[in-house]
This record gives sequence, structure tokens and C-alpha cells, in this order.
Amino acid sequence: MDVSIKAPAKINLTLDVLHKRDDGYHELEMVMTTIDLADRIDLTEKAAGGIQLESSSGFVPFDDRNLAYRAAQLIKGRFNINKGVHIKIDKKIPVAAGLAGGSSDAAATLKGLNQLWQLGLNLEELAELGVELGSDVPFCVLGGTAIAQGRGERLTPLPPPPPCWVILAKPPHGVSTAEVFGAFRQEKVEKRPQLEQMEAALAAGDFHGICQGLSNVLESVTLDQYPKVRLMKEKMQRFGAPGVLMSGSGPTVFSLVEQENAARRVVNSLRGFCRQVYAVRILGGLGEPNRLE
Ligand code: C5P
Repeated sequence: MDVSIKAPAKINLTLDVLHKRDDGYHELEMVMTTIDLADRIDLTEKAAGGIQLESSSGFVPFDDRNLAYRAAQLIKGRFNINKGVHIKIDKKIPVAAGLAGGSSDAAATLKGLNQLWQLGLNLEELAELGVELGSDVPFCVLGGTAIAQGRGERLTPLPPPPPCWVILAKPPHGVSTAEVFGAFRQEKVEKRPQLEQMEAALAAGDFHGICQGLSNVLESVTLDQYPKVRLMKEKMQRFGAPGVLMSGSGPTVFSLVEQENAARRVVNSLRGFCRQVYAVRILGGLGEPNRLE
């Protein structure tokens, strides 16, 4: 039997670091939303017990450094599964980009193996397993739009933003999340997200309120360390995008744009300057075009 599952990327509409915890992680408060930039995970059962991984991208590891591989290991161990699985990852989400690509692959693998091996787990149980793999995995299991607190695993669903284009620009280098958190200093933060304001803007479907509320305290680290990321953000703002932010620990910068012709202008202006530019929709708005052709 085969299972094929879509693994969408996320962006942060807000990201706040409240404090460093005794376990070394940071207590977070974020609003995240899934977007229609997605990997595809194909799972094929194997009679022999091993886990094999194949990917369209040369940038992902094929062993237990890969979160999808670890997801399969976790499920096999926890539920005493003797069968093996071949995991094929069709990679579209840039790696180490602040878009939770690896976490989403892991979440899709958990969901897919739940189907393949008929484990009968619900989304909450899959999310609980997911946090053992990484802080963003529970959100990726659930998808949609949500507040994420704690390490990122305490989730409260929110209404999605109104239909709009998400333009993403990924600088050529990746960023280590652990290094960004390690270099984070509260005293360097200039602007903090206002969670209630973002919740109210989402509840009201207020596009401009959402744009005004975009805020990520990790910009204080990544924009300083990588001037190219700061430049990218400034360019997007200059090209007329109403809301621009770095996602997660970076380095991807995104803008939200309501009108298609304005989205095209931003994309065209970025093209000469950045090789990896994407224009996609927020997931949730059914029946709308998903890409700029
Ligand atoms: O949970 P995950 O393995 O994805 O986290 C990667 C790294 O990011 C952690 O090792 C930690 O350094 C940092 N992190 C953190 N606080 C969080 C989430 C991640 O410090 N809430």
C-alpha cells in the first residue's frame, strides 16, 4: 500500500521570546499559518524492516539526521512495527529557511504512517508524538492558523488571514535555529508582537491590521548577523508590500499582498536580486488560484 501526503510550509505572523527555560529551550508565543508551498511525502510499505529515504533534493540528509526518518523510527519503536517503509520526499520548501520544511515532512510522515499502519491515532496524539521530534512539528500536524505557546507545542486555533498572496524571498544561505536562539538577547529587541492585536485582526479579517501586527523578535539576531536579509526586507518594503517580516529564525523574508497585480510587481522587482522567490496563497481559502503563473 502507498500513502501520499502534502507537507506545507508555515510562516510566522508573530514570534515573541518570553524567557529562557531551565531545560534550555525558550518560552515562545507565536502566531503561525500554513501556506501553499509544500513538499510531498510518498510512503511505501516494505516487508523488510528498514527505513529508506529518497529525496528530490541534494540538501536533505538520508539518515536519522532527517526529521522524516526520525518520525518513522519513532512510530516503529513506539508501536512495535516490524515492517519497513520507503519514504520519498519531493522537496519544494527551501531547507533551513525558517519555514518548518523539515518539521512539516516529519508531521506528514507521522500522519502517513498512522494511515499506512492503521494505528488509529487522532491529530492530538500525533501532535504529542511530534513534539519529541521538534518544537514546530505539533503545529505542522495540525496546520491552519494558530497561536503556539510553550516550546511551540501548545496550540490554539485561530481563523486564517483573509485571502492574499504570500511572496517569499529566500537568501542563498541557511540559518541554524539553535544558533539564532543562542544569540538572542532581550535587550536588543526594539519592537514586540502584540498578540491580542493580531488575534483581533484575524478575527475581523482585517488585512491591514494583520500587516501592521507582523512582528518577530528573532529579527534582532538574524538581520544583524546577515545584512543581506535586512536588505531583502528593505527592498520588499520599498517595492510597496504593505506587510514584510522574517519567518521563524530566518532567513526567509515574506510579504503579504492583497491584489494580484501588486503581488506580481513585488515578485518582478525581487527577481534580479534573489534567485529563490515564491508567490503562494495562505492555505485555507478554497477555490482560489494558488500560484502566480
Ligand atoms: O525543537 P527543535 O529541535 O526544532 O529546536 C531547535 C533548536 O532551537 C533547539 O535546540 C533550541 O536551541 C532552539 N529552540 C529554543 N526554544 C524553542 C524552540 C527551539 O531555544 N522553543
